Amino acid sequence: MSRRINIAIDGPASSGKSTTAKLAAEKLGYIYIDTGAMYRAATLAVNDEGVDINDEQAVTSCINNHRISISIKEKQQRTYLDDQDVTDQLRTPQINKTISVISSYKEVRKAMVEQQRQLAEKGGVIMDGRDIGTVVLPDAELKVFMIASLEERAKRRFIELEAQGIRQTLEEVKEDIRKRDRIDSSRSLAPLKKAEGAKELDTTGLTIEEQLKIILDWVDIAISEKKRC
Ligand code: DC
Repeated sequence: MSRRINIAIDGPASSGKSTTAKLAAEKLGYIYIDTGAMYRAATLAVNDEGVDINDEQAVTSCINNHRISISIKEKQQRTYLDDQDVTDQLRTPQINKTISVISSYKEVRKAMVEQQRQLAEKGGVIMDGRDIGTVVLPDAELKVFMIASLEERAKRRFIELEAQGIRQTLEEVKEDIRKRDRIDSSRSLAPLKKAEGAKELDTTGLTIEEQLKIILDWVDIAISEKKRC
């Protein structure tokens, strides 16, 4: 029996999901999939076309006119909008402001979830997002719910934006995150919440190495439990 498991990591913005998941994937030789990038590419299309984000039908039809896909190149995920590689255009304040509304729409989610499930069919995937343990991969052998204080998450995002040359005050970043958390957790469809059986990891005050070690220990346990079955 294959010992490659699937790992689902959910949690609010900047809780440490992607950094930890990427490093864990590297260590394990697994594929890391950032599902947020797919919703970001959808949002880019909607913003670029000037569609009213509150008009669900218009948003859905805009997204249905495009193909959003990902591929793994040199172990890195690249995200495409139609044939264009948009990976480097996805982490902007403009997208951060509108993404939660767009990703709350039913048809938008349906298309993404189908693709994400296909990507995990063969196992050996670490996928992060908001609904991975609850909706996309409820049977993942390891489910993690990652959290951190709002203060710490805002600081992390602020540093990330600064490194990209994007200027926002810490207060603005904090407000964006707070708003996004509220919409992501309260939407009726696939809200952000801890999945049944998920292990909670609070990354406040932890180093990346500490977070990674905890995840890798949990992976070992999940693999040995799978072997026993
Ligand atoms: O992980 P991220 O910060 O790049 O995600 C951006 C937004 O995309 C997030 O605020 C909500 C949405 N998202 C989602 O609804 N479901 C996912 N599986 C991943 C992201």
